[in-house]
Amino acid sequence: MRASRMSAGWQIFALPAAVSSLTDANFYGQSPPVYPSPQGKGSGTWAGAYVNARDLVDQMTLDEKVNITRGFTSSDNVCAGNSGSVPRLQWPGMCLHDAGNGVRATDMVNAYASGIHVGASWDRNLTYQRGYFMGKEFKDKGVNVALGPNAGPLGRIPLGGRNWEGFSVDPYLAGQLVAETIVGHQDAGAIANLKHFVGNEQETLRRPYHGVEAASTNIDDKTMHELYAWPFMDGVHAGVGSIMCSYNRVNNSYGCQNSKLMNGILKTELSFDGFVVADWNGQHSGVGSALAGLDMVMPLGGYWGDNLTEAVRNGSVPESRVADMANRYDTTDFATPGFGMKNLTEPHEAVDARDPQSKPIILEGAIAGHVLVKNENSTLPFKKPPKMISIYGYDATVPATKNTDILFQLGYNVQPEMAQAVLGTEGVRFDQAAKGGTIVTGGRAAANSPAYINDPLSALSQRAALDDTWVNWDLTSFNPDVNGASEACLVFINAMATEGWDRIGLHDDFSDGLVLNVAAKCSNTIVVIHAAGIRLVDQWIDHPNVTATIIAHLPGQDSGQALVKLLYGEAGFSGKLPYTLARNESDYHPYLPCNRTPDDYFPQCDFTEGVYIDYRDFDARNTTPRFEFGFGLSYTSFEYSSLSVDVSDLSPTTCRSGDNEIWDIVANVQATVTNTGSVEGAEVAQLYLAIPNSPPKQLRGFDKVALDPEESAPVTFELTRRDFSVWDVVTQKWQIQEGDYTIFVGASSRDIRLTHNLKI
Ligand code: BGC
Repeated sequence: MRASRMSAGWQIFALPAAVSSLTDANFYGQSPPVYPSPQGKGSGTWAGAYVNARDLVDQMTLDEKVNITRGFTSSDNVCAGNSGSVPRLQWPGMCLHDAGNGVRATDMVNAYASGIHVGASWDRNLTYQRGYFMGKEFKDKGVNVALGPNAGPLGRIPLGGRNWEGFSVDPYLAGQLVAETIVGHQDAGAIANLKHFVGNEQETLRRPYHGVEAASTNIDDKTMHELYAWPFMDGVHAGVGSIMCSYNRVNNSYGCQNSKLMNGILKTELSFDGFVVADWNGQHSGVGSALAGLDMVMPLGGYWGDNLTEAVRNGSVPESRVADMANRYDTTDFATPGFGMKNLTEPHEAVDARDPQSKPIILEGAIAGHVLVKNENSTLPFKKPPKMISIYGYDATVPATKNTDILFQLGYNVQPEMAQAVLGTEGVRFDQAAKGGTIVTGGRAAANSPAYINDPLSALSQRAALDDTWVNWDLTSFNPDVNGASEACLVFINAMATEGWDRIGLHDDFSDGLVLNVAAKCSNTIVVIHAAGIRLVDQWIDHPNVTATIIAHLPGQDSGQALVKLLYGEAGFSGKLPYTLARNESDYHPYLPCNRTPDDYFPQCDFTEGVYIDYRDFDARNTTPRFEFGFGLSYTSFEYSSLSVDVSDLSPTTCRSGDNEIWDIVANVQATVTNTGSVEGAEVAQLYLAIPNSPPKQLRGFDKVALDPEESAPVTFELTRRDFSVWDVVTQKWQIQEGDYTIFVGASSRDIRLTHNLKI
């Protein structure tokens, strides 16, 4: 397989781009060449930035230009990357720093809810506010480029170690929330970085090691556009300033030297005017990456630096390409890059970046991503303060140490690439649960630094003090004693995930056993799962004594307080699952990361399932999930009525990705949602569309509305031309096909309340 792929790839390299960009079986797994690299145009919202940048870059010598395309170590700050500077022109360079859920590895910042939690909130406004206040923290710390949000991985495999960093496995939901985050960051004055472009769907074999190349993510052109590149399209449309190319190979060409991806999709199709930065140490060629559209290398000089200067001098890389790299950086003045990002172990002035106005946003965000999946006999909220509660499980309290990298809670830290390349995932074992304490974030690059952690036990104890509730706890026993007078037993477990490793399963025996042991003795057992990804519940969800279950995801620093508000009914549940929660591992296709055999030096990951992942696959196969995509209970109930569909200009047409018309609103859909229960609550109304020759349903709209009892309000969905289109691989255009379409509006992907058929 290896030999034929390699030789086929070589032949294709000689074909003209127009021919080689066709996708058919013969081209599967090959990345066609797209050259030369388009110059940034600086149009639209970019015009001002480009004028400034060009003025500055025009004055730079070749050496100066080359110098700012690469990273340097700094003794002044701990930024993940520092670009070169041009002191002669008073340009200070840039600090680039992680990550998508808050400023990492520093002090005096906030830990916001993580991506998966934000996805579960389905709340555009909260997502924008989070993006804004987080962006302000980056800016106030002197971080020019915030290395988030993350839409790659999307979540092809439920075991993916970094799925929690992103918002959802659904490209529409991910794209909407990515756009809100980007606008929020950039309104606050930090440049956003949308990553990892593209196909970084697993941690296993994500990078080359010891002669084994990184796995090649083999994605066909249709799947690329309709699934994996979709949220990146939203990000570019939202004006993202930078994009990070990915570690993996894509169709057998490394992400950071892949001309089809950077010159082709980003810079030609989407007219992306910002810069592409390589993931850290993810550059594998000098001339090749420059010509393929890479604009910055991190954390050091990679294959550039003096070599890039030499490549320009000997004619291998045009100087205009290097100028284009530099023109793409936003050169607007920033204070000293990284001034608030000092080495924490040395004496330093702690720059407090926390805006008091962010406080309610952080708490609301923490509340909004909790998903209630079981609530027998309305056990929640507590009707009156319980006289006695009992608390169990390692996840109820803070870890013994608060340090800058939550990964150490796992008590396991090896170089993941080394272990995985040599041993494969099976060789890497760590506990699926972080038993050292409650988790409010996942691990590594996107882990954030909490100002404090308000943990469940402390928050419940504070509340108990107000109500004179008696609290028992045992956070270590596997089979704890239960005081027979307990009115409620709360069991806290978690599912940890981190960059660098894929997870080894979706549940663990210890945690499941603990739930069952408590449930055997306590008739009102409430399970709370902090989850950095999908966590199965079938081992105990039907147990009659498990009365309620909360998927608490990764709430950030206000975790305990948010939970207490929900348990006591001071806030309602409004979160819905941004993924499918299956009954069994084997219900997911694919489930495992792809791996290598011992003599395979060019591992291949064929994404043969195409666009059929998560609910698209469950629907197509008619597999019953435990809890479907978009599902979540509330303390109240909602009725849907009065669907109206107002269609304009919806005819069979084609459109290029970069055409403005692709964003035209071609259908306005409205429905009425009524709160039919007795308490206030917020509902996430969802719109799914059945498109011919596509999965049975695809999310194409959502609207969250807060309602008092008996109150009604409209929910509205604006569908664009892209929302009705499929990607046509022959014409390389978005196409609205002739045929029958169905619009579904409902409370989840399987709780459809209103339907409208449409013929185009
Ligand atoms: C991660 C990126 C991160 C970078 C800088 C890489 O290992 O993949 O997401 O932004 O490191 O820390």
